[in-house]
Amino acid sequence: MTGAARAGASPEVATAFPDVDALATALDTAGYVVDPGLATALFLAVRLPQPVLLEGEPGVGKTEAAKALARALDTPLVRLQCYEGIDASEALYEWNYPRQMLAIRMAEARDERLAEADLFTRDYLLRRPLLTALEHQGPRPAVLLVDELDRADDDFEAFTFELLAESSVTIPELGTITAARPPIVVLTSNRTRDLHDALKRRCLYHWIDYPSPERAAEIVRRRVPDSALPLTLEATAAVSRMRGLDLEKPPGIAETIDWVAALTLLGVPHVDTDAFGTLGSVLKSRDDLELVQAQGRGWLTDAARA
Ligand SMILES: Nc1ncnc2c1ncn2[C@@H]1O[C@H](COP(=O)(O)OP(=O)(O)OP(=O)(O)O)[C@@H](O)[C@H]1O
Ligand SMILES: [Mg+2]
Repeated sequence: MTGAARAGASPEVATAFPDVDALATALDTAGYVVDPGLATALFLAVRLPQPVLLEGEPGVGKTEAAKALARALDTPLVRLQCYEGIDASEALYEWNYPRQMLAIRMAEARDERLAEADLFTRDYLLRRPLLTALEHQGPRPAVLLVDELDRADDDFEAFTFELLAESSVTIPELGTITAARPPIVVLTSNRTRDLHDALKRRCLYHWIDYPSPERAAEIVRRRVPDSALPLTLEATAAVSRMRGLDLEKPPGIAETIDWVAALTLLGVPHVDTDAFGTLGSVLKSRDDLELVQAQGRGWLTDAARA
């Protein structure tokens, strides 16, 4: 699909989201704290429309961005979770063999015979996420999240790419199904392998960085509403400093949220030595715990004040 051939967003979506700010506000209302860069990428994904590829370290909010986009647009989220070995029958559609067998048996019991055409109809089709997204009737397009595409193998990536480029699929027994409202596509990758250039060329690309401690505190307070701002800021500063150590699993936002929830529940007012007992919320291996504890008792507090 070239820029010139692009169909453009549906008029309804265009009216509801005339500019980046309108989408940023809707995302904020949907509970997602967005910076101008990501808001722009998502706006373009919705309005051009063009698939957007989100990359970033674990837990920076890639999956949540797509979920929040669907909430902001008030449209269904269709999620395809990729994994090693995933194939078209799990992603697109499959025939419901048990149901077909049952129909055959029931027909036999009535002394009837079913023709093949009776068995390969929409009634016997199991729709998987890609087909569900293509068939969505609107009024607004669905948001299709293809999550962790790097986990799937090359062939599956190529297959997905073709399907999204065409916005249609041919089911031999039924014919070609063309999307009435092509979905808004968000792809995510954790970079366990490089995605193909052809796919990347077709997508907008956005790298989601770890948020600043201030922005991270804003995110955490959305999820832990009874958390105190000073404690949350101390925790996000400490987490940011931890990421500077050579940790096996640097903590993401989810861990930071868990940590502040734990500190709040326990009534720990500051991220100081009292917080040592709760480090299991943020650090998930013995080596990482030892590395942080080895920095000395004042380090967490210094981190918080840095
Ligand atoms: N900007 C944000 N606004 C609100 N919540 C956020 C934001 N970023 C992250 N979160 C929260 O942080 C947690 C982790 O986010 P998410 O699961 O989207 O990360 P991810 O990048 O998909 O991670 P992974 O690579 O492990 O799948 C979720 O609970 C999510 O709600
Ligand atoms: Mg994710």
